[in-house]
Amino acid sequence: MAGALLTVTALASVVLASMVLAAANESADEAGEAAPAGVANPQRAWQHWTLNCQGCHRPDGTGSDQTAPSLAGTVARFLSVPGGREYLSRVPGVAASALSDADLAEVMNWMLWRFDRQHLPADFQPYTAAEIGQLRTRPLRLEASQIRADLLKKADEAIAR
Ligand code: HEC
Repeated sequence: MAGALLTVTALASVVLASMVLAAANESADEAGEAAPAGVANPQRAWQHWTLNCQGCHRPDGTGSDQTAPSLAGTVARFLSVPGGREYLSRVPGVAASALSDADLAEVMNWMLWRFDRQHLPADFQPYTAAEIGQLRTRPLRLEASQIRADLLKKADEAIAR
């Protein structure tokens, strides 16, 4: 009896482990063959995203009215406006993240590529650990949403011109 129970438990953990592996592989496929610039390990970046960011931003970066604005199809637009690059790393969810500077830089580079590669400037220089380390010492607070609105307005104007 106890033996049977053990077998069932062992089987269940094998099934669970293979499900986790399958999910991980799926994401690796999604990440494509070539690792984006500034991303040493796309698998690791995706895991960090899953554990630290997607709770508010959703797995596909679309966010929701109650949690966070959509990053999908938008986030890299900030990079073409002065101050935008800094803004992206100073929002509270990024600056105050539990991730190390190096892991956070990797997630940022991965996120820009994963959710909005069509707006990545051709001359985009990936975030480095040192840059992130600098920027996160000056986290934005309530002013984040006003700065966000101003930057997006400038991005829209830049396109209209
Ligand atoms: C507690 C919820 C929460 C978590 C966790 C969170 N964010 Fe955010 N994020 C937000 C909100 C809300 C904003 C909008 C700016 C603001 O008001 O803070 C935002 C803005 C951003 C922006 C700026 C883009 C824009 O459109 O304003 C980026 C980039 C970003 N988050 C990335 C991340 C990454 C990467 C992580 C994980 C390391 C993360 N966020 C974790 C809630 C969160």
